Amino acid sequence: MAKLIYPLTESVLEKADLKAAIKVINSKKITMGQKTEEIESFFKNKIVKMSSLMVNSGSSANLLIFQCLINPMIKRLKPGDEVLVPAICWSTSLWPIIQSGLKVKFVDIDLDSLNISLSDLEKKISKKTKALMLVHALGNCADMTKLTNICKKNKIILIEDTCEALGSTFKNKPLGTFGEFSSFSFYYSHHITSGEGGMVCTNNSKNLEVIKSLRSHGWSRGLSKSKKIAKKYKKIDKNWIFINSGFNLRPTDINAAIGIEQLKRIRNILSIRKYNFLTIKNELIKNNKYNHQFSILKDQKHSNIAWFGIPFILNSKDKKYKLRVMKKLNLKGVMTRPIISGNFANQPSIKLYKIKTGPKLHNADLIDKNAFFLGLHNVKITTKKLNLLVESIYSSL
Ligand SMILES: Cc1ncc(COP(=O)(O)O)c(C=O)c1O
Repeated sequence: MAKLIYPLTESVLEKADLKAAIKVINSKKITMGQKTEEIESFFKNKIVKMSSLMVNSGSSANLLIFQCLINPMIKRLKPGDEVLVPAICWSTSLWPIIQSGLKVKFVDIDLDSLNISLSDLEKKISKKTKALMLVHALGNCADMTKLTNICKKNKIILIEDTCEALGSTFKNKPLGTFGEFSSFSFYYSHHITSGEGGMVCTNNSKNLEVIKSLRSHGWSRGLSKSKKIAKKYKKIDKNWIFINSGFNLRPTDINAAIGIEQLKRIRNILSIRKYNFLTIKNELIKNNKYNHQFSILKDQKHSNIAWFGIPFILNSKDKKYKLRVMKKLNLKGVMTRPIISGNFANQPSIKLYKIKTGPKLHNADLIDKNAFFLGLHNVKITTKKLNLLVESIYSSL
């Protein structure tokens, strides 16, 4: 492969992040502790105004949400209940639903936003539908006013997978704050990174306590009622009372410390990413070689999108054209990837678990065949890099 011109992500760790991580290591207390509490209160107070718990990934956040909903202490969902999910989703937007004994039903996407199609959503709702796992694909969103109304009308629990949309807003309200639960990812290529890491948020204190316990072995330590629980179970050592089933999905304080530093400069990060998105898009569109060979999306109406990447929708009927373009770009040192995982209904794991995919998902299939995306970086693109990128794109089409 040629010299890498444009990777999916670029080194995003700054000196302050490394200093904060080293401070935690030097303290010799690196497991979940004070720094995790600090990032959780920062996230709650400054980002989502919802209770927030840090976990070791966005995938773990999604798993905890569904495990909470089926938990005997909550009993909101039961085996066989139906959860809707857009066909353009990530693997761990979907698998926690199945791993929790629930049934998945795919919903097609809207070609203007690459997010869930509201008309198909309304068609797919049945008596068994109890929840919607909404995925804010690439940071963009659906019309959240209409979507929340549909959920309210049909008594559907709304969960927002916001792993690709930290910082996006709809009518000035952050994505991740419209539903009862939301998840965020701080993986390397996301808006902020703590290496691995994520956040699970909820507006309900009972959910919060259950998720807290599930995150840490199912024990009662750290819960608001831990003293009361200790009184009730006097015969058991107060630090070793297991009131629930559990996992270990905790972050380390090293992840938390890096995450805090990045959150402190989130405004700057978001404005650089927006600059890069608009600069690259404008440079491509105003180029004299532009002949509508592709389109790049606009922000959803009424929203301010913190794009996760730059989506390219190719204007071609040739099924193999996208793969040829992606191959050429990769050979030129420009990394590309599918729109999240393409139409997830076409993935082999779906066949492995014999999951019914329902009627054809035409738009998701179209995107699968004709679209890919480039990453967005947290450092301003230089003119030299911009020119190389534009030249590589046009010579690959
Ligand atoms: C939409 C979506 N959900 C969930 C995840 C999982 O996040 P993580 O990689 O932190 O587990 C990702 C990761 O890229 C994602 O894009």
